[in-house]
Amino acid sequence: MTDAPDRDAAPDRDDVPRKGRILVVDDDKAVRVALRVNLKKAGWEVGLATDGEEAVEMLRVHPVDIVLSDVMMPNLPGMQLLSIVRERWPETRVIMMTGHGSVGDAVTAMKAGADDYVIKPVEKEELLIILDKALAEKALRAEVVQLRAEVRDRYGFENLVGVAPAMQDVYELVAAVAESDALVLITGPTGTGKELLAHAIHHNSPRKNAPFVKVNCAALPEGLLESELFGHEKGAFTGAVRQHLGRFEQAEGGTILLDEIGEIPLSTQVKLLRVLQNGEIQRLGSTKTRRVDVRVVAATNRDLRAEVKAGAFREDLYYRLNVFHIPVPPLAGRREDIPLLVDFFIARFAERYKRPVARASAEVLDQLAAHPWPGNVRELEHVIERAVLLCRGEELTRVQLPQLDGDEEIDDGLLPPGTNLPDALADAERRFIVEALKIEKGVQARAARRLGISRSNLNYRISKLDIAIKDVVYE
Ligand SMILES: Nc1ncnc2c1ncn2[C@@H]1O[C@H](COP(=O)(O)OP(=O)(O)OP(=O)(O)O)[C@@H](O)[C@H]1O
Ligand SMILES: [Mg+2]
Repeated sequence: MTDAPDRDAAPDRDDVPRKGRILVVDDDKAVRVALRVNLKKAGWEVGLATDGEEAVEMLRVHPVDIVLSDVMMPNLPGMQLLSIVRERWPETRVIMMTGHGSVGDAVTAMKAGADDYVIKPVEKEELLIILDKALAEKALRAEVVQLRAEVRDRYGFENLVGVAPAMQDVYELVAAVAESDALVLITGPTGTGKELLAHAIHHNSPRKNAPFVKVNCAALPEGLLESELFGHEKGAFTGAVRQHLGRFEQAEGGTILLDEIGEIPLSTQVKLLRVLQNGEIQRLGSTKTRRVDVRVVAATNRDLRAEVKAGAFREDLYYRLNVFHIPVPPLAGRREDIPLLVDFFIARFAERYKRPVARASAEVLDQLAAHPWPGNVRELEHVIERAVLLCRGEELTRVQLPQLDGDEEIDDGLLPPGTNLPDALADAERRFIVEALKIEKGVQARAARRLGISRSNLNYRISKLDIAIKDVVYE
């Protein structure tokens, strides 16, 4: 076996499983050689450089997962290499090797953006653990970046469907305010897309890479809501066994959505007002105030002005919130968008449930156009989801609209026009089976018992009706 030259960065050919690519930078040949042997044995692909300059040259040709660099080197010293790598190869992890007794270097390196450090002489086991950790972190970061991009796709303007004039006004307001840090109040009936708009504001703002945190103010009783929003110190109240970071602090640098703000109790409204005025929060049980850099978006389906008149909402808080108001119209006020939304939801659910559906029939579109839509876009979404799930052809020929209280239309009861008994029975059968599978989380034996049939009978029906269990369960 011939010993490859010191600077060889060619891929290794041993049978050890590959971990990642690493570049060792050190002016001391003995250190380089020893590290190379040990790291290769542990499954790393290793490149060697004698100083920072050479390292940069090599990185240009061949980027790596991790740079393991000495601090004291001629030409380009370690700290400079660190800042170059941070800037040009932000995904690459950097670990610094510092001399014994120079802990100060380690601290400086970490402050300058190094991911970790080891002290020379390098302890082999310790180094391998640190490297594994760095590689795992790198993968995790890549995943976070990827997820953020996906979220952006999902909540970008492209996903706000609708061209109706009433919605154009909304989009314009969103676009105008997104860039700024202004407090925004979004109002509108349930299911009109208030939360979706709040996401769009965040993802089109300079804060898009920081957290978006949502608090449902209606879901929690008074005491819990305050601790949820502002956090608490250990022992702040019975049951506060450890410190808890509030949602405002979790949203640091990003956006907080105060959903259903109309439901906040009066006593909490006072505290919230103070936060909005000073940008400072106070954890429960603490006397210290902390600055938070958070953009606030509030949403409600209540008429806040009426709440103020009724004494249920503080007037000062109302004025504070009402500076930039985006009212979202009900779906009935933008019926021209219904066909677009139908297409959008058909595409979404056909893909999710692997159904061949591509469009809705003219009759179905007429039916949808005439419906009053008290549940707005959310209701339409559910109607389409259900119809797609039950549809086996390319065209949706039937939708089931929720019965309305005091519906003016003639109620056809069990026998609407176009009733076809075999189809209706198959639909009902499918619905029962899907429901049972959902309740029993896909366990067929239990679903069969619930339906009062044998397991094999259930199996037969599932294949006859072509029900995809996977989709039902992970819906
Ligand atoms: N313009 C739109 N384009 C596409 N999807 C929409 C649109 N508006 C709403 N939706 C969808 O409708 C559903 C309900 O929207 P959202 O949760 O934002 O409503 P909301 O106004 O916050 O309702 P609530 O007051 O009940 O909380 C969501 O699945 C959302 O993605
Ligand atoms: Mg909502």
